[in-house]
Amino acid sequence: MDEDASAALGRSGFEQREQHRRALFGPTWAALIPDVFRDVPSYYRAGNVVASFGLWELWVWQFVNTVHVAPGSAVLDVCAGTNDVGIRLLRRHPGIKVTAVDRSREMQDEGQRRAQHYRVAIDSRIADVHRLPFDDASFDAVTLQAASRHLQLDLVLPEILRVLRPGGVFYHCDMLKPRRRVVERLYLAFLHASVAWTALVFGSSEASRQCREYFKRAISHFYTAEEFSEVLRLVGFVDVRCRKSIWGGMVAFHRAARPAQR
Ligand SMILES: C[S@@+](CC[C@H](N)C(=O)[O-])C[C@H]1O[C@@H](n2cnc3c(N)ncnc32)[C@H](O)[C@@H]1O
Repeated sequence: MDEDASAALGRSGFEQREQHRRALFGPTWAALIPDVFRDVPSYYRAGNVVASFGLWELWVWQFVNTVHVAPGSAVLDVCAGTNDVGIRLLRRHPGIKVTAVDRSREMQDEGQRRAQHYRVAIDSRIADVHRLPFDDASFDAVTLQAASRHLQLDLVLPEILRVLRPGGVFYHCDMLKPRRRVVERLYLAFLHASVAWTALVFGSSEASRQCREYFKRAISHFYTAEEFSEVLRLVGFVDVRCRKSIWGGMVAFHRAARPAQR
């Protein structure tokens, strides 16, 4: 992974951005997002494949490849959804222990069915990840894929740092805001079309229909890959590395460590 350039967001820039995101999206995060994920578990994975014209599989495969864990490691998958990340990690590293945490019981029920299908064991906790229900320094690695746009990062990232053991590593992957305006416009147009196309194929709930504009706005007000690296440093992570995906920073893979001594 390449160390990326500093983006000069600053602590006050981070605080302001989080306040702004909370003001814009707080009600959607609290009321609509839980409804969206109540509706989608049975077709969540297929829906992602259709919405991304197949790129989802490549994205998850690339992300799981960035995760390095020793046998016996304890791994926490935050916003685990249907356990896509945890199942793939356990199939690659059978000696590790994976715990999943997500607010949606429906997504986790589907995740447990999938884990049984693949004959792997994943501990499941239903909780809001803004307050992780784990002791300090409980995990060697934490993963978070495709959910941070829906979260208050000034609360969640310090929580992730807290539950990591000194020297433990956080792996992050999400759709981010492209740095170049023209790429962002193309990207949002693509997202608009793909969400409409997926709704047509699978049908969608009222909550999902109401979230169509939100999905685009959440990216417009999110962080670029460079800004996200800086946010991780501001929160207290060290050895922050980022690899942008092949799509010009629309998806990036971050890796950041909790300092060995705090
Ligand atoms: C797009 S899905 C991603 C699932 C999984 N990480 C993956 O990559 O397939 C987002 C997940 O975040 C969960 N989520 C959103 N906000 C949450 C919160 N505040 N606390 C816990 N889970 C949350 C949703 O329930 C949903 O399962």
